[in-house]
Amino acid sequence: MDNFVFQNPTKLIFGKGQLERLSQEVPKYGKKVLVVYGGGSIKRNGIYDNVMAILKDLECEVVELSGVEPNPRLSTVHKGIDICRSEDVDFILAVGGGSVIDCTKAIAVGAKFDGEIWDVITRKAQPTGALPFGTVLTLAATGSEMNPGSVITNWETNEKYGWGSLFSYPKFSILDPVHTYSVPRDQTIYGIVDMMSHVFEHYYHPQTNTPLQDRMCESILQTVMETGPKLLEDLENYEYRETILYCGTIALNGHVSMGYSGDWATHNIEHAVSAVYDIPHGGGLAIIFPNWMKHVIDVNPERAKQLAIRVFGVDPAGKTDKEIGLEGIDKLREFWNSIGAPSRLANYDINDEKIDLMADKTLTFGEFGNFKKLNKQDVESILTASL
Ligand code: NZQ
Ligand code: ZN
Repeated sequence: MDNFVFQNPTKLIFGKGQLERLSQEVPKYGKKVLVVYGGGSIKRNGIYDNVMAILKDLECEVVELSGVEPNPRLSTVHKGIDICRSEDVDFILAVGGGSVIDCTKAIAVGAKFDGEIWDVITRKAQPTGALPFGTVLTLAATGSEMNPGSVITNWETNEKYGWGSLFSYPKFSILDPVHTYSVPRDQTIYGIVDMMSHVFEHYYHPQTNTPLQDRMCESILQTVMETGPKLLEDLENYEYRETILYCGTIALNGHVSMGYSGDWATHNIEHAVSAVYDIPHGGGLAIIFPNWMKHVIDVNPERAKQLAIRVFGVDPAGKTDKEIGLEGIDKLREFWNSIGAPSRLANYDINDEKIDLMADKTLTFGEFGNFKKLNKQDVESILTASL
């Protein structure tokens, strides 16, 4: 393992009826609240009314930013920063999925940054602080509710980058599985793929001696693969929603990745595809991840073998490590196909026309990937295999 320091300051408030805890949390940060949300799902499922009723009881002065896009855009972040400054906002409450939360993180940091927030996102400048913010999560997928990460798209330049800082942890996040009942089937699938992909990004690391971390990762994958298909048959089942919601948080809140840095190349590639074609993150990952796994199999076939045997139940008898690993990757593809995830870029009408452009976008900050460093040729080859 690498030496490590672990600290996650986000207070996680989990379970049925926990929205009421807003009454205890929000007053700690002030009276003027900016509520950030997406395209209207929270109005249709009633969460908006419930949140507003609580804020009204608290006598908060509320301003709103609605219309945060899936794959949230820099232009919306700018709107939020302007509101925070002109309205002298004390606290921001994100109500939605990963996109709403990621957008809120950039607004919170941008409101306290004397300059252009895109410079922070593109690592040209260091953040200097943040407005306090909390979240009411409505979709299990990204882990953004309990990590400092934020992914923002500059639609004018077709760039989508992840960034994060010590300032971008939510103060608290409220996770009620009931809030995820209305997540449609396709978004539920994308969420399942995304949380599994976060575990794969961890699992493919270059460190040695991580037996506990490996087992924790494997148990998340097994749990998601056991529960996900049942959930897709019964979208309003409390126990299945509860399990998947918890899996999504634990998959990317730092608990299973202490002592090593995961790979993260596949996320970088997917972000480049989304930046050019605006496809759902989980859909892109389902297409690319197995192809990345095949591309890097020779780096450490032992790793792919362990995953194949322990998670995908591959019988190792009479096979080489590489053969076992490849069989595991095929089983992952089968599982994702079986739940209805996309498997080819063609599913989103993407052909080879912009492979060069997408590959360039992945290399903005240089060669990348901790398990295997990828160059442009590697990316082109993975994208071509994904067509
Ligand atoms: O906009 P609304 O109307 O709210 O609808 C959303 C949106 O259309 C809908 N939705 C959310 N909760 C719902 C619901 N519909 C019905 N009922 C509910 N309860 O679902 C759609 C997708 O929402 P979005 O927030 O975009 O999904 P997700 O949570 O998957 O977030 C995706 C974004 O997060 C980034 C992705 O790149 C992408 O931009 N990521 C963020 C990470 C992080 N911060 O740590 C890590 C991830 O790897 C990922 O890159
Ligand atoms: Zn992801």
